[in-house]
Amino acid sequence: MGLTKEISMQQRLAGRDFLTLADYSKPEINYLLELAAYLKKQRQQGKEEKPLQGKTLGMIFEKSSTRTRVSFEVGMYQLGGMGLFLSSDDIQIGRGEPISDTAKILSGYLDGIMIRTFSQQVVEELAENASIPVINGLTDSYHPCQVLADMQTIEEVKGGLDGVKLAYIGDGNNMAHSLMLGGAIMGMNVSVAAPDKYQPETPVIQNAQSIAKHSGSKIEVTSDVQAAVDQADVVYTDVWASMGQESEQSVRELAFADYQVNKDLLDLAHPDAVFMHCLPAHRGEEVTAEIIDGKQSVVFQQAENRLHAQKALLTALMGK
Ligand code: CP
Ligand code: NVA
Repeated sequence: MGLTKEISMQQRLAGRDFLTLADYSKPEINYLLELAAYLKKQRQQGKEEKPLQGKTLGMIFEKSSTRTRVSFEVGMYQLGGMGLFLSSDDIQIGRGEPISDTAKILSGYLDGIMIRTFSQQVVEELAENASIPVINGLTDSYHPCQVLADMQTIEEVKGGLDGVKLAYIGDGNNMAHSLMLGGAIMGMNVSVAAPDKYQPETPVIQNAQSIAKHSGSKIEVTSDVQAAVDQADVVYTDVWASMGQESEQSVRELAFADYQVNKDLLDLAHPDAVFMHCLPAHRGEEVTAEIIDGKQSVVFQQAENRLHAQKALLTALMGK
C-alpha cells in the first residue's frame, strides 16, 4: 500500500458506519482486504501493532453467536482495545429503552458499537443517533462482516475476486443478499439458486444488478441449481432456517430438499471449486458431511478470517 493512498483511505473510512456493503466502494473494500491480509501476516509473524489502544467497542447481541462475538472481542483486545459483550437480555434495550436513547448514551462511553439484531432498521436507527461508528454484526437482511471475511478467503484461495464465479445454493437470506452486493461491487459473478418462494428480495437483486453494471460482473437468481453451479469457482451455502425462523424448520427442510450441496452437485462445478459456508452448519441438511469436511472445503480458514477482516474494519473505522 502506498503511503498517500493509505492516508487518504484512512481519512475516508475513519468514523464511518458499516451497515451494508452497498455503502462502500470497490477501492474502499480493496483497502480493507489489503489491511486484513497485512494484519493476518503480522499476527502470524508475532508482530502485532496496537492501533486501538484504550478504545472500546460495545457489542450488542439480540441473537446468538460464536464467531462474531469471539472474533470481535478478541480482535479488539489484539488491537490494544477492549470489547464489551452486551446481551439484550441484560441491557435496557430488552426492556424497551428506545434505540435512539441507547445510541446517544453509548456514544458517551464507547468508541464504536457492533450490533447483531433482527431488523436492519434497528441498525440504521442506532447509526443515525450514535456519534460513533456502528457496525452491522448481522441482521435478517445482511451480514456484511461475514462477506468481508469471505472475500479475504476467496482472494487467498483463488488469487483475486475479479471474474470469480460464486454459486450460492439455498435460502435467499441475509448471506445471499450480502454476497450479491459484495460480488457486484468487487466484480465477482454471483449465481443464486433458491426455490421460487425463498429467493432474495427483489430490491436487493435490483440494487446488486445495478451496481454490477459498473463492475462488469453478473448477478443472477434462478431456481435451477445445476445452472448456478456450472463452472463455479466457489460453491457457498447457508442454513435453510436462519435465526428467528426455527418454527419453519420442517417446512423449509421439504422446500430445500433439492438444494443440498453434496458430491453430485459439487462435481458439476469447476474441478478446482472450493466449498464455503458462513457456519454454523447443519450436516445432512444444506451440506453433506463429506463435502464440508472434505478436501474442497475452506470453511475453517473462512471462519478464522472473520478475526483478521474485522480487525481491519475496526482499525479503519475507529483508528486515528
Ligand atoms: N457466521 C457467523 O456469523 O457465525 P456466528 O453466528 O457464530 O457469529
Ligand atoms: N443466515 C444465518 C446466518 C448465520 C451466521 C442466520 O441468520 O441465522
